[in-house]
Amino acid sequence: MHDVRKPSAALYLPQRRTIPALQQAVQFCKGCDLYKHATQAVFGRGARKAQVLLVGEQPGDQEDLRGIPFIGPAGRVLDQALAEAGIERDMVYITNAVKHFKFEERGRRRIHKKPGMGEIAACRPWLEAEMEAVQPEVLVALGASAAKSLAGKEIKITRDRGKLFPHPYAKSFIATVHPSSLLRIPDAEEKKIEYARFVEDLRFVRQQLTSQ
Ligand code: URA
Repeated sequence: MHDVRKPSAALYLPQRRTIPALQQAVQFCKGCDLYKHATQAVFGRGARKAQVLLVGEQPGDQEDLRGIPFIGPAGRVLDQALAEAGIERDMVYITNAVKHFKFEERGRRRIHKKPGMGEIAACRPWLEAEMEAVQPEVLVALGASAAKSLAGKEIKITRDRGKLFPHPYAKSFIATVHPSSLLRIPDAEEKKIEYARFVEDLRFVRQQLTSQ
């Protein structure tokens, strides 16, 4: 039972928890205030019985407009890294910890704003329903917001990245950096090194899969 005093998506989940049913229902979610300014909710996409379920933070500007997760600049980095790690598209389901875009308007631009723990917790019922429907072998958190949603406040990407943890919704859980953090590194050499580490983390994910 969720605490009725705290914002939560729990009331908005449909009885049938298939991905298509969830995808329709999420558009009516008012579990926290983020629905008020976003264009739409952005639900997960990918293989229904994916071996790997990747979780990002929240949709960005382009994702909010098009309704698809990870199709902007961070998504392009992620696609390339997955390919280099030998993880194919039909092996993954990609979603976010928070389904609505949180932003601040600066002139005409919409600047990403980090979701708070309250919003992450409010949105967790959608993520739990996705994990239950997909039943992945490996769960991957991309960045701190996803890691906190999946493993609690104590997890630290700097300390815990690339380590294997047990998880109630998968055989293993691994956290790594968010691909947008790589885009923000100004130094080209450092960017290359950090990108290679990211690919290495994803290769490790690939090694955990029973059917290679
Ligand atoms: N960043 C995310 O965390 N998720 C997206 O869908 C896009 C950018």
